[in-house]
Amino acid sequence: MNIHGAVVVVTGAAGGIGRALAVEAGQRGAAAVAIVDVNLEGARTVADDLRSSGVPASAYRCDISDFDAVETVADEISWDLGTPTLVCANAGVSPVGGPLLEAEAGDLSWSLAVNVAGTWATLRSFGRRLVASGQPGWLLVTASEHSLGVPFAGAGFYTATKHAVLGLADVLRQELPEQVGISALLPGLVNTELWRSPELRPESLGGPSSAPELARALLQEGVDPAQVARLALDGVASGRFLIATHPHAIRYAQARSADIDVAFNELALTDTPDTSYDAMELAAKFAVPGDR
Ligand SMILES: NC(=O)c1ccc[n+]([C@@H]2O[C@H](COP(=O)([O-])OP(=O)(O)OC[C@H]3O[C@@H](n4cnc5c(N)ncnc54)[C@H](O)[C@@H]3O)[C@@H](O)[C@H]2O)c1
Repeated sequence: MNIHGAVVVVTGAAGGIGRALAVEAGQRGAAAVAIVDVNLEGARTVADDLRSSGVPASAYRCDISDFDAVETVADEISWDLGTPTLVCANAGVSPVGGPLLEAEAGDLSWSLAVNVAGTWATLRSFGRRLVASGQPGWLLVTASEHSLGVPFAGAGFYTATKHAVLGLADVLRQELPEQVGISALLPGLVNTELWRSPELRPESLGGPSSAPELARALLQEGVDPAQVARLALDGVASGRFLIATHPHAIRYAQARSADIDVAFNELALTDTPDTSYDAMELAAKFAVPGDR
């Protein structure tokens, strides 16, 4: 993927990792960058900063959990800047942490609506336009080290949504035409304002709640978002599917892999008959082909 000359869209770009992705894309010669966020004022500030460093940029307000709004903003951006060829589906929220058995249902609905449904809506609206344009392009999805099996106690809903996001990317990787690639970004802690996201919880799902100081302190231990954005766009430029940013996370992925080995080793010791099919081959045989 050639970032130089690409039209780039980044959701959740008013701050944190999204802002850093937009700045990094600008530094790598993007033709234009669309800064999308539910926080329009913040998005405008980022677009102004980019323009003052010579990068064409425009700000757009959009709540990614509103599917119609995502369709509308995809039309607006394509009209204003051209069809985005690098789509960064990055916006996400992290509800107030706490044990799953004590958690609030509204937090589950909210995190699914933004992190999973909103990410899908972003990929759908921009991905369809990109595929229809016939141009080469790339989808970059901000997942998390939690997608791999880093199981923080107290972050159950967030962890579940980030597994789901990796699932979307995994399947899209099979479905996209050859000229469109996809990567999943897997950051560990990054020093951003994510701890403040409970302030964004909609009234219908319990309303805004104050951000816990502990979450702020935890995120302040994180790395600079600029470092994550550099690794992310290096990964996109070299066409990698999974983009790791924090070396420690491999220990947890390997622990999960070891659990999987145990499960299958134990299965091999039972007299369960071997299945006669390969799941991927079977799925390919019965899959409904798209209209590509
Ligand atoms: N900070 C971390 O430690 C970390 C680690 C792994 C993954 N992530 C992921 O990175 C992504 C970016 O988070 P961040 O850490 O930069 O946090 P952040 O809160 O600094 O930035 C997120 C941005 O998304 C916007 N946003 C929230 N809900 C939205 C919605 N419904 N529609 C549109 N925009 C919305 C916010 O206004 C904010 O500007 C998220 O998907 C997050 O889950 C963060």
